[in-house]
Amino acid sequence: MSYSSSATASGTLEGASASRGLWSSRLAFILAATGSAVGLGNIWKFPYITGENGGGAFVLVYLVCIAAVGIPIMMAEVLIGRRGGHSPVNSLRLIAERDKLNPAWKIAGIIGVLAAFLILSFYSVIGGWAVSYVGTAASGQLAGATPEAVEAIFTGLLGDPGTLLLWHTVFMALVMVVVARGVRSGLERAVSILMPGLFILLLIVVGYAMTTGHFGEAVSFLFQPDFSKLTTSGVLVALGHAFFTLSLGMAVMMAYGSYLPKNISIAKTSITVSIMDTGVALLAGLAIFPIVFANGMEPGAGPGLIFQTLPLAFGQMPMGTLFGTLFFVLLIFAAWTSGISLLEPLVEWLEEQKGMNRTISTLAAGIACWLLGIASILSLNLWSDVTPLGMFAMFEGKTIFDLLDFLTANILLPLGGLLVAIVVGWFMSKQAVENELSLSESGFKLWYNTLRFVTPIAVLVVFIYNLA
Ligand code: PHE
Repeated sequence: MSYSSSATASGTLEGASASRGLWSSRLAFILAATGSAVGLGNIWKFPYITGENGGGAFVLVYLVCIAAVGIPIMMAEVLIGRRGGHSPVNSLRLIAERDKLNPAWKIAGIIGVLAAFLILSFYSVIGGWAVSYVGTAASGQLAGATPEAVEAIFTGLLGDPGTLLLWHTVFMALVMVVVARGVRSGLERAVSILMPGLFILLLIVVGYAMTTGHFGEAVSFLFQPDFSKLTTSGVLVALGHAFFTLSLGMAVMMAYGSYLPKNISIAKTSITVSIMDTGVALLAGLAIFPIVFANGMEPGAGPGLIFQTLPLAFGQMPMGTLFGTLFFVLLIFAAWTSGISLLEPLVEWLEEQKGMNRTISTLAAGIACWLLGIASILSLNLWSDVTPLGMFAMFEGKTIFDLLDFLTANILLPLGGLLVAIVVGWFMSKQAVENELSLSESGFKLWYNTLRFVTPIAVLVVFIYNLA
């Protein structure tokens, strides 16, 4: 893979990609896009929001959202990127110029860049938890630990702003180092080893989970829908998570799509990435819930869920210290490749728009993000009572950390995705879109109509329900 960011803001559409590197193969794009998609969202967030929202019915809604909203939008984003051949904001601007659209469409890119920045600020804090757990696991502290001891380790970490800050800093530095150097072949090679590794370790934990005697209970929790447990806010969370987990609505897939060679099928690659992403999330659920039930824990325990269940499993299984350490190392890698893709859009934009060089723009964006992350850290301890928008019913009881998560996943991402669906479905030249995708006639119709009607209506209905 040769991925360079030497794009300039000028240039015609046709010539746009000539001066930039392209992915070396379909596999390279799939790996990079999967590296972005598979992250904390799959292993940390999916299990805990599933637990909080009652299980089966929520999972079903989430799967529907992936198929009816996520995949069509991923295709649309990759398409915008490849057709525009520039960073997201400029790709949108160029497409708008070419198809004589209102230049304001680039707002979809701007929302994305903003959302990515906000997400990275707290994503890095959680990435820091994973870094800290490598030490916890490697030092053998987990061996034979009781649920109470494991909980004490976690609450101890959250209550200690200094330690959280240290690991948040380490994580952000890791992300900045890669972004500053340009996202090159190292990433592709790393992802091609680490993603299968993560997959295998997850399978090992699932294997262990099967021995707990509560596997069946977990399977029915995850796959037997009980609609009485589903709330309208649960639907919003499922929709938001479909965007979050597939890295949609924030221009990441546009940025990656801009390096995709013309002869590669956008549909096939998007579907492959989505299936792998969903597979990892479901595996994580199957790994975690048997342990939750076997130890009489609360499925709705919230953001700490995996940090309180997986350590228990590693403490009890043979060679748990080794597997536990490896697992958290791979979790860091999964989070790292996602973190890189979160910082990339802003850095690219600063380069193109403000003419900064790559190192300076990485430093500026990374440090700003790191500073904002400190607010999330404090909201876990010293500021745990601070609820800035608490006067609005919608935001009641939400700390800064909760607010950032809610605003991005549940509002900004779906909004960014909605704009993408509308611009590609209703405004871009249909001929151009059709050429870019080169699908069979029926395949194109299915996708086009889903993108034009199903996707926007679904997003709007969920929004209106939740605001009303
Ligand atoms: N998809 C990543 C995850 O599930 C998070 C992410 C969101 C990364 C948006 C990039 C862009 O963890």
